Amino acid sequence: MANNDDHFKNVISHAKEYGYIFGSSEIYDGLSAVYDYGQNGVELKKNIREYWWRSMVYMHQNIVGLDASILMHPTTWKASGHVDAFNDPLIDNKDSKKRYRADVLIEEYAEKLEQKAQKEIAKAKKRFGDDFDEEQFVTTHPRVVRYRTEQKEILQRMARSLEAEDLADVKALIEELEIADPISGSREWTDVRQFNLMFGTKLGASADSATQLYLRPETAQGIFVNFLNVQKTGRMKIPFGIAQTGKAFRNEIVARQFIFRMREFEQMEMQFFVRPGEELKWYEYWKETRLKWHLSLGLGEENYRFHDHEKLAHYANAAADIEFNFPFGFKELEGIHSRTDFDLKAHEEHSGKKLQFFDPELKESYVPYVVETSIGLDRMFLAVLSNALQEETLEDGNTRTVMKIPSILAPVKAAIFPLLKKDGLPEIAEEIVELLKWDYNVLYDEKDAVGRRYRRQDAAGTPYCITVDHQTKEDRTVTLRDRDTMEQERIAIEDLPQRLRKSISFQSWLTT
Ligand code: GAP
Repeated sequence: MANNDDHFKNVISHAKEYGYIFGSSEIYDGLSAVYDYGQNGVELKKNIREYWWRSMVYMHQNIVGLDASILMHPTTWKASGHVDAFNDPLIDNKDSKKRYRADVLIEEYAEKLEQKAQKEIAKAKKRFGDDFDEEQFVTTHPRVVRYRTEQKEILQRMARSLEAEDLADVKALIEELEIADPISGSREWTDVRQFNLMFGTKLGASADSATQLYLRPETAQGIFVNFLNVQKTGRMKIPFGIAQTGKAFRNEIVARQFIFRMREFEQMEMQFFVRPGEELKWYEYWKETRLKWHLSLGLGEENYRFHDHEKLAHYANAAADIEFNFPFGFKELEGIHSRTDFDLKAHEEHSGKKLQFFDPELKESYVPYVVETSIGLDRMFLAVLSNALQEETLEDGNTRTVMKIPSILAPVKAAIFPLLKKDGLPEIAEEIVELLKWDYNVLYDEKDAVGRRYRRQDAAGTPYCITVDHQTKEDRTVTLRDRDTMEQERIAIEDLPQRLRKSISFQSWLTT
């Protein structure tokens, strides 16, 4: 089994080799943290989006969709707080001239302390075996207690300083901890400055009269400004939700880890409007519902965990991340935020328009509270891909590369092969393509020996292969091979649609 670093490298190169992800404008040496989705990637992405959309919109009578524009009136971002507060604290190293996020440098330092604590725990576990009492050990072992206390104090001080906009203290902390530039080892730092993450652009032809616009940094604001349009035209009653998927843009400074942190990415967000005072009940509901959605895909319960936020954004009264076990550790995949009435109230103030709901039961109007679920589509893509890619040793000692992508998400659902390129077998295979193509993305392949064709589809993530052989001509049956078990069954051509429907239907996946 490859270690995590190797596994991650394999995921990146496999994604390219099999037409999932290419670097953007590669012929010009690429653009950092911007990616293109290839012929298989676009299908996987579409299928993840569809899986999310169906579970949100079709499964909830009180949730509807929206597709708002990327460019919005610039006051939107003043109201939402993005113009003033959507910043990262940056610091430059004077020697290497490299720029870093100050909070990330400190967090990485704190993470090293945690790793030291984990090392002590692992050593003790090995020494004491079954008698090991981890809870007692971590609360009494002096070094572990010291590492963890130090870590907590550092993170708390950083949070306090950032909250108070005390950037001098953030720099002081970096200096006190003697944090060095990871590349040059230098400790010569500039002051810490705030850097706004929004990409700006101009509307209008002449430089003087052009209006400053922003590429949206989240899709959520398109939902807030359309709250009344949807509520009134859809005759929606609270509680109700508006779901949207679409591109968002952030001028990320530390854009690493492949498609985990991109400058142009896609979000799938849902804002759920509720009665004031009921938001925490709905927050718990959405935490549970979203985790269930993730678990339905079968990527392994042990690969998810909640991270409840201790430090809350100014507009939130509760927030949690669903973290996924990526090849580089547990990291945020989705956020669930109880955003209070902050956004709608801010838009009321800045637009002068009322954004309220008349509640017929309470016989009063109010600005609804909002619970948001927000997931990065590209991050979900990475979760699926990194979990799916496996090197398997087979019973005969050979190995195979296989991508066990959940069949409901797989780009190609079935590959159809004539065993030979003659004797009328290709014609029957084409007939099967014709039968299945209305419901599934299927592929015809006649090149190379059938074993090699199987391996190619295993590596591409195709859940089924259908092979037409000479027996097919006699009894109209084919072999259906399962990617994961490699088992083959003989099945009548006419039963194929029903057989595929049994294992590739939204109903069977979304209800597990
Ligand atoms: N409307 C709330 C919001 O945008 P966020 O935590 O900033 O919240 C939500 O982003 C989700 O969007 C994250 O959980 C992550 O999955 C995804 N995301 C955020 N920044 C990203 C980036 N630079 N690249 C890829 N995905 C990103």
